[in-house]
Amino acid sequence: MKLKCILSILIVSAFSIKGETPAYLNADLPIEERVEDALSRMTLKEKIGVIHAQSKFCSPGVKRLGIPEIWTTDGPHGIRPEVLWDEWEQACWSNDSCVAFPALTCLAATWNPEMSELYGKSIGEEARYRKKSVILGPGVNIYRTPLNGRNFEYMGEDPYLAGEMVVPYVKGVQSNGVAACVKHFALNNQEYNRHTTNVIVDDRTLYEIYLPAFKKAVIEGGAWAIMGAYNYYKNQHLCHNQYMLNDILKGEWGFDGVVISDWGGTHNTMEAITNGLDMEFGSWTNGLSNGRSNAYDSYYLADPYLSLIKDGKVTTQELDDKVRRVLRLILRTEMNPKRPFGSLCSEEHYNAARKIGDEGIVLLQNNRKILPLNLTSTKRILVVGENAIKMMTVGGGSSSLKVQREVSPLEGIRNCVGNNCEIVYARGYVGDISGEYNGVVTGQNLSDDRSASELIAEAVNEAKKSDYVIFIGGLNKSKNQDCEDSDRAGLELPYQQDEVIEALADANKNLIVVNISGNAVAMPWVKKVPAIVQAWFIGSEAGNSIADVIFGKVNPSGKLPFTFPVALEHVAAHAIGEYPGIKRNDEDIWDEHYNEGILVGYRWHDTKKIPPLFAFGHGLSYTTFELGKVKADKEAITGEDKVTFTVPVTNTGKLEGAEVIQLYLSDPKCSVKRPVKELKGFSKVFLQPGETKNVSFEIGKDDLSYFDAGNHKWTVEPGEFKVHIGAASDDIRSSTTFKYN
Ligand code: GLC
Repeated sequence: MKLKCILSILIVSAFSIKGETPAYLNADLPIEERVEDALSRMTLKEKIGVIHAQSKFCSPGVKRLGIPEIWTTDGPHGIRPEVLWDEWEQACWSNDSCVAFPALTCLAATWNPEMSELYGKSIGEEARYRKKSVILGPGVNIYRTPLNGRNFEYMGEDPYLAGEMVVPYVKGVQSNGVAACVKHFALNNQEYNRHTTNVIVDDRTLYEIYLPAFKKAVIEGGAWAIMGAYNYYKNQHLCHNQYMLNDILKGEWGFDGVVISDWGGTHNTMEAITNGLDMEFGSWTNGLSNGRSNAYDSYYLADPYLSLIKDGKVTTQELDDKVRRVLRLILRTEMNPKRPFGSLCSEEHYNAARKIGDEGIVLLQNNRKILPLNLTSTKRILVVGENAIKMMTVGGGSSSLKVQREVSPLEGIRNCVGNNCEIVYARGYVGDISGEYNGVVTGQNLSDDRSASELIAEAVNEAKKSDYVIFIGGLNKSKNQDCEDSDRAGLELPYQQDEVIEALADANKNLIVVNISGNAVAMPWVKKVPAIVQAWFIGSEAGNSIADVIFGKVNPSGKLPFTFPVALEHVAAHAIGEYPGIKRNDEDIWDEHYNEGILVGYRWHDTKKIPPLFAFGHGLSYTTFELGKVKADKEAITGEDKVTFTVPVTNTGKLEGAEVIQLYLSDPKCSVKRPVKELKGFSKVFLQPGETKNVSFEIGKDDLSYFDAGNHKWTVEPGEFKVHIGAASDDIRSSTTFKYN
């Protein structure tokens, strides 16, 4: 070891005497050559140093060689404010406010990969400007239960949609020389017992439902980093998991990036060495017990690892692989001289946030075509609800932000309406008046000591005097709502909102409900409310996007990325899926059998014939679209052939708008149980009134395949397949058949 170190120092000094640039510093050389050169120069201690944190969010480089530190940052919706060296608390800098982009459920609801590219590029620019090299996001865990506190950070229930939408986000981020760190790999589908749940799922379900979005992020998106999840799989923590990290991620997928632990997700030195972990962050431990801060040398991959090597108990083989990956990450980011310089809080970023919000809002119901509101004949609009005024960018866990500005729904409505009519506000209910997270405060005083009945009486009284009533409620970022590290207790809206909505519906038939949430909610009043809008956590431009849709500046084109069930027992995870898991007798581990297998979301509703409240892929428009008959360019394919399906789409209304044409596939006769249909294509088409465009989809063997767990491979059984084209999973307009021989 010593000889090697001396040799490498001699080489460096030889170069420096000759004045030549050492290979690892020469950006004209191939990255792999630079990696090997840097590795050869590092001492054992330097190698151990770079694979674990030195502060809450950064890891050391190699000072002696001029190899820079890696700075990571949350989160998927915006760049987290700077924190104190070894704390979660913000450092109270005055230059780190950011733009809050819409939550990823909103991005998924756009069904528009161009929005993902715009999103990734924009948030990557903010990270780059803040001198961060790894964004800890996006998250693509599958929406398995509507109770999961972190669904708002993810991209819905369908692996194909999530996969198609995550790739452009990753590419957009990384076009800035900033790494995306796709999370939480994998099977982290709830927050309840997130550290102690051992997921038991069959291979076919794993490969068909829970892995595809991660696989696309790695193989098509080229993600430079992956974050291990907190939970167990096959009784191993996912931050050091032989099966998920070595066999699948690095083995089958050839991932050449860095596996970063979730913060505090590392539990065992030997497993961390051998089971695929490359960088350890957030371990709050002195290696022996929890609770000591600044214990970085005591991290599992720090001194304990160094000792094992020095005692000859392990070689440096795994260490060198980890260090190569870390060096590759540094060369792709910090040491990439060609990367742009980024920007922060630019108008382009606000415009991007608003555009994504505009395209992601979903018009769920619009009876009597009450929307868009026409201001010419309107004198008075009442806005009711805490979510009309409450800031949503603070709280919710690690995705919490310190924004430069956040336009509330009430402000957005007021901005849009101007003096055209009177806007009155009534609280309606009091939910959560807190407004602080890790030292970031909203500054809002939401306290209101009136009783629930007084609040409802005021709202009803005002409603009777108004032309329209817009109720703006839903969930928020508080514990047991849409919030990390906790799940919701049920599907119902909290804070007796149902009672308020019912009272308003009785008081004024022109009622619009705007539900702000990252999860489905129960709507017992659905038949009494003419218009329902699903408005996500939209971030800095929330109020402007909501007003754009309500007053028709934008024609809504969002589609649900997950099913809205009528009741919780209609959800597979709750019907047969063992949520939230069953505690073992003798240890703090909860086993959870994903008994529903591949039947997640609409796959379950279709198979069990359970009508949803609103279906996956559902979303209305202010115009109308006609889909013609789908036609195939051939009747049968074999081998690697592709068949192209084409469908004419016409805007038969008076307003320009966009429709998301969805292609679902069925394999009616197969030796294994398959869902009634599965999403295998979608295309968002923008049309002027009267305009027609042809939308085409290419389908091939991969789209027809299922995962044959017995032989551990994707396989397609010859026979007849059905293609369904529609505007929602429960709105199929035409079908056709073709054969795979
Ligand atoms: C949190 C989250 C993870 C986040 C990390 C750093 O516990 O699970 O998503 O990026 O820790 O805040």
